[in-house]
Amino acid sequence: MYLSVPREIRPGERRVALTPDMVAQLVKKGHKVGVEKNAGLAAQLPDALYSAAGAEILPDGQTAYRQADIILKVRAPEASELSFLKPDSVVVGTLGPLSDPEVGRQLADAKVTSFSLDLMPRITRAQSMDVLSSMSTVSGYRAVLAANLRVERFFPMLMTAAGTIAPAKVLILGAGVAGLQAIATAKRLGAVVQAFDVRPASREQVESLGASFLSLPVENAEAQGGYARAMGEDEEKRERDLLAEPVQKADVVIATAMVPGRKAPQLIDEAMVRSMHTGAVIVDLAAETGGNCALTVPGEVEVTDGGVIIDGTLNLPSMMPSPASQLYARNVVTFLNHLFETWAKDAASAAALGPVPEDDEILFATRLTAKGEVTHAPTREKLSVSK
Ligand code: NAI
Repeated sequence: MYLSVPREIRPGERRVALTPDMVAQLVKKGHKVGVEKNAGLAAQLPDALYSAAGAEILPDGQTAYRQADIILKVRAPEASELSFLKPDSVVVGTLGPLSDPEVGRQLADAKVTSFSLDLMPRITRAQSMDVLSSMSTVSGYRAVLAANLRVERFFPMLMTAAGTIAPAKVLILGAGVAGLQAIATAKRLGAVVQAFDVRPASREQVESLGASFLSLPVENAEAQGGYARAMGEDEEKRERDLLAEPVQKADVVIATAMVPGRKAPQLIDEAMVRSMHTGAVIVDLAAETGGNCALTVPGEVEVTDGGVIIDGTLNLPSMMPSPASQLYARNVVTFLNHLFETWAKDAASAAALGPVPEDDEILFATRLTAKGEVTHAPTREKLSVSK
């Protein structure tokens, strides 16, 4: 099988889908791997490391797409790359069909089989392939470091000859993977950390990290698969009212509340921002899906008239491209191993580079397109195309 890694060309994307150690693993298994020139450079992975691991360095993106049986990507191919796609090849990446279903149509039109790793089911067996978890881990960590550098506060309590300085108060909204990593990071830096989530099950995890869980009388919003359900406007308003005081008192708010495929809940309105002290910081990890804060500007860091800093930086994993690529590449290779094992049981499927058994929960859930069709039902619904 020829696997190739084009350079990511989406603006601001610095990750790469395979790292040299993962190339070596694939080569050892008998695959050929091609990597576009400079594909890993932004992640501090020069071509020489890929060559040493056994990869062929390809001169440009077009060659990388044309050469491949399987194309490994971080993000969905850009419009300029679609014409490079070879019919019947396979694309694996974080294709994001729930936020941009058009990508499903484009890949179906290009007649490729595609697997979108962000559709990975949240089951124990799939944890090692779960790119959302590994990238949320990076985001949660990075968000706290960003806030730490911006806020004019020490995170730990300092007892000095010149007196005692109180620790920073950090509030984490949403205690999923990113929120829990943010809690752990803020705690390690010595802050006083409070957290809230609409899934009561998260209380135990929050407390096990040494943070306190805000007991707010909000209805349990746990939905299928451990995710939260979208809340109605009234429910969101009530949650905002209850969060007003903790937000006002916080030096730093890390907002991570999200609902898959939906607009993020608005947990901080303008009045709440106004109530915060000068120099307080909000890092909004939900910026891409509308933001948890009403004043977040996606991709920008804004300072309000009252001196509150609102950080809406997008794609935080790309700000730590080296470790993020390392985690991502491991997820990709674990997924590929599963795909190859499945195909090994069925030579015809392997030869067609496409069909997957419908009872394979992982492959069936992540497959976005095959044979010119969008096979992922929720994406199809969003596109309103019939099967
Ligand atoms: P996510 O990124 O979709 O959302 C982040 C957090 O925001 C979630 O904890 C959610 O409950 C919370 N949230 C949503 N609306 C909110 C609101 N109005 N107010 C406050 N908080 C709100 O979630 P993520 O991080 O992807 O995790 C979702 C679930 O999946 C968790 O239960 C997690 O433990 C589980 N999980 C399971 C895995 C597995 O078994 N393989 C792997 C990773 C996560």
